[in-house]
Amino acid sequence: MVKGLLVGVGLIAVLGIVAFLTTAPEGKVEQPIAFNHQKHVEKGFPCVTCHQTVEKAPHAGLPSLQVCLMCHSAPMTKSPEEEKIREYAKRGEAIRWAKIYKLPDNVYYSHRRHVGIGKLECKTCHGTIGESPAPPTRPVVALKMDWCLRCHRERKVETDCNACHK
Ligand code: HEC
Ligand code: HEC
Ligand code: HEC
Ligand code: HEC
Ligand code: HEC
Repeated sequence: MVKGLLVGVGLIAVLGIVAFLTTAPEGKVEQPIAFNHQKHVEKGFPCVTCHQTVEKAPHAGLPSLQVCLMCHSAPMTKSPEEEKIREYAKRGEAIRWAKIYKLPDNVYYSHRRHVGIGKLECKTCHGTIGESPAPPTRPVVALKMDWCLRCHRERKVETDCNACHK
């Protein structure tokens, strides 16, 4: 009992320090290409076309240049942003997307568990990103612990500290 309490207090202290060290201030996000979710999603391409590991791995993944080239090896529009894709290909350079949704390293989260097994919709956690004409500059839904816990309590899922904290 006392031991459990001490371990608990120790965990809170350690996680508190880690959180303090890893919380970066919210800055402006620059993406290499002004990607438009709305134009792609309204054409009927499912999210998994580009976020290819969302059903089978912890991370959804951001698309590689090869994924864009499946459709953009020849021009489809007059957009200079689209032309950038083929310029990356000519240079043999990878597209490096900035990642906006980022949990601290000590928190475990898995898309496979929530999407592949739990069958939750992307919208539940990422809001209306599929309707957005420009890259988001901050998470539409803040990934706070209370938010995870609220849903876990509602759906009677594990709320033990060790389920999410490693
Ligand atoms: C499955 C096919 C497909 C894939 C994969 C795809 N696109 Fe597209 N993209 C389209 C289509 C179709 C259009 C034309 C939309 C329209 O008619 O305006 C388009 C249009 C665009 C445009 C111009 C429209 C605009 O104003 O923004 C850009 C830029 C673009 N895509 C970037 C990308 C990037 C970057 C990737 C890789 C992350 C990508 N696309 C992957 C099908 C695709
Ligand atoms: C239960 C909530 C939840 C659902 C449902 C969900 N996500 Fe996520 N998503 C997250 C969290 C939390 C992160 C941050 C993960 C991290 O930093 O480890 C994230 C991160 C991402 C990222 C950034 C890259 C990565 O994998 O870290 C993409 C892209 C993404 N999600 C796409 C999707 C798509 C597409 C769907 C639906 C097929 C989806 N997500 C469903 C919570 C969710
Ligand atoms: C044609 C490719 C494509 C499709 C389809 C697509 N995405 Fe994306 N997604 C991207 C690209 C490229 C980025 C990085 C640039 C940006 O943020 O706009 C991204 C970024 C994201 C992010 C932010 C990840 C992060 O941490 O920066 C989320 C969340 C996301 N997509 C969810 C979705 C959901 C949900 C769907 C389906 C409704 C979807 N995407 C469909 C290409 C796509
Ligand atoms: C909208 C509801 C919802 C949100 C938000 C949510 N989860 Fe979950 N989570 C679930 C469901 C449902 C399951 C069980 C899926 C299954 O196995 O059927 C689950 C399972 C898990 C598991 C596995 C638990 C076990 O049994 O060991 C972990 C770990 C987890 N979630 C972490 C997180 C984290 C971290 C966050 C916040 C970043 C989060 N979840 C946000 C609904 C949610
Ligand atoms: C369902 C997943 C989940 C469970 C269960 C969970 N946490 Fe967290 N926790 C998170 C996420 C996600 C973050 C990072 C986001 C944030 O700071 O809110 C976090 C951050 C923290 C932080 C650092 C941030 C802060 O608010 O000071 C502490 C300390 C913490 N958790 C302690 C605990 C303890 C103790 C328990 C058990 C009573 C617990 N957590 C259970 C998901 C979870």
